[in-house]
Amino acid sequence: MTTALAHPNIALVKYWGKQSKAGNMPATPNLSITLSELSAVTTISDSDHFQFHLNGKQVDDPKVSALMSTMTDTFNLPPLHIDSTNNFPTSAGLASSAAGFAALVTGIDAHCNLGMDAALRSEWARRGSASAARSICGGFVALVPPDWQAQSLAPIDHWSLEVVVAITSHGAKGVSSTEGMERSRLTSPFYNQWLRSAGDDYAEASGAIATRDFAKLAEVAELSCLKMHSLMLTSSPTLSYWTPASIACMDRIRALRAQGEAVFFTVDAGPQIKAVCLPESRVAVAQALSEVPGVLEILCCPLGEGARIIDD
Ligand code: PMV
Repeated sequence: MTTALAHPNIALVKYWGKQSKAGNMPATPNLSITLSELSAVTTISDSDHFQFHLNGKQVDDPKVSALMSTMTDTFNLPPLHIDSTNNFPTSAGLASSAAGFAALVTGIDAHCNLGMDAALRSEWARRGSASAARSICGGFVALVPPDWQAQSLAPIDHWSLEVVVAITSHGAKGVSSTEGMERSRLTSPFYNQWLRSAGDDYAEASGAIATRDFAKLAEVAELSCLKMHSLMLTSSPTLSYWTPASIACMDRIRALRAQGEAVFFTVDAGPQIKAVCLPESRVAVAQALSEVPGVLEILCCPLGEGARIIDD
């Protein structure tokens, strides 16, 4: 029996849209931070048939089944029992699939002695969910061409950013990221412009991280997030992941920044708001967001390490 743990990651330069060729590769370079506190813990054990349990219930997850079938064929794996538990809401825009696939591949690699390095684990995690490629690494992480295996941009101690998550709904999302991004690729009039501008956003954000330029990172990360949500809103049928409280939180974060707090927001395919801040602003940000009507819960996460084995 082998147990692996991985954290979600939050993209500061978003990916929304895939390449058409095989391998589940993003269409644009993207960049993230890995969070601590939130985690997927996945235990792999031998079994007489394949079984997948998520949060204590047996489920038939087509993405997990597809990845397991390819890995089984490629590495001649025995039947495995997989038991995965998240300590945070699943499928609600908190990157549960990123943490889940990173923990799954890390656990299978160790349990079956496949001898993968981090780059190869990242590639296999990416086949499950492209953002999962990034949860293999800790700290500041890039997912870029040509090989689309995540690489570390900087370790955790490079810059002590923190993330305050405002939960505005505990419900699972209606339209999956995969379906949503394909809809945007096919129907949003802004999709080609998105493809053209992503390289510049990536270069600006990685430069801001290298020089610890918070104001520059705030500007480019909020813009990348809002461009992605513009693609969603202008898809047909439209995709809208926000609640009224999500919008109120974004307004509150802009007001906090105008008052001098070092904070910016980012939002994925779900209603939760992630406020990225410097440690000295965390208490004020958490307090302010907890007072926004419709905010159900606040979670505070410093940066976290990459996927790892915790019990073998
Ligand atoms: O990893 P996927 O294919 O489920 O897509 C995730 C996409 C976003 O979370 C919305 C953005 C990102 O880059 O993580």
